[in-house]
Amino acid sequence: MKIVVKVGGSAIVQGLDARRFKEYADVIKKLAKDHTVLIVIGGGSPARDYINVSKELGANNSILDYVGIGVSRLNARLLISALGDIAYPQPPYDYEEAGLAMYTGKVVVMGGVVPGQTTDAVAAILAEYVHADLLLRTTSVDGVYTADPKIDRTAKKIDRMTPDELVTMVTRIEMTAGANNIFDPLGAQIVKRSRIPMIVIGGAHPDNLIKAVSGEPIGTLIK
Ligand code: UTP
Repeated sequence: MKIVVKVGGSAIVQGLDARRFKEYADVIKKLAKDHTVLIVIGGGSPARDYINVSKELGANNSILDYVGIGVSRLNARLLISALGDIAYPQPPYDYEEAGLAMYTGKVVVMGGVVPGQTTDAVAAILAEYVHADLLLRTTSVDGVYTADPKIDRTAKKIDRMTPDELVTMVTRIEMTAGANNIFDPLGAQIVKRSRIPMIVIGGAHPDNLIKAVSGEPIGTLIK
């Protein structure tokens, strides 16, 4: 299978701990033995810190987006370092470059691309561009919920939903640099039009990637 994985900042970047990058790299190495794997990594809390300071300094939204893109690309460099030889040595700047890098047989790791979106959209567009069979998205909980489970105790986990339902759910949320949403609205539209199945899984345990790829019923399937 050809698999695009969006590794959220909350899953891997929190606290900037080398061990966390290594844990993810070990799982990605296992996946890459049997599959073509492309990774998109988010900016996480360091991106938010940089964006907040830039905002205080008067940067406009597009510039804040470039700050976020820069941090996500730095995170990609860290994961590339953890993957060593099996990784394409630098984060591609766009989808065409990523597509070409994929043909080297190496694991491609990239961050953000252009202002006005998040790395969720990057992952969805990359999945469409390379004709991926599956898009995986890690999150800080264990799937998509009816409301934010960290705020609303009555929130219920959704096991399965359609891309249309995802689009409706995410378009209610405002888009600003560093904003938190279950999935980027543009990314959701791309998931809908590309018809690539997506599974939203918990990022706390990197092994969830392997479980999802092996067809274990975890997270939320969007199909
Ligand atoms: P992220 O995609 O990391 O956002 O990009 P996030 O919501 O923090 O995602 P997680 O938590 O890591 O999964 C960080 C910021 O970088 C800018 C946006 O401002 C985004 O909020 N960005 C990122 C872009 O402008 N374009 C991109 O292609 C990617």
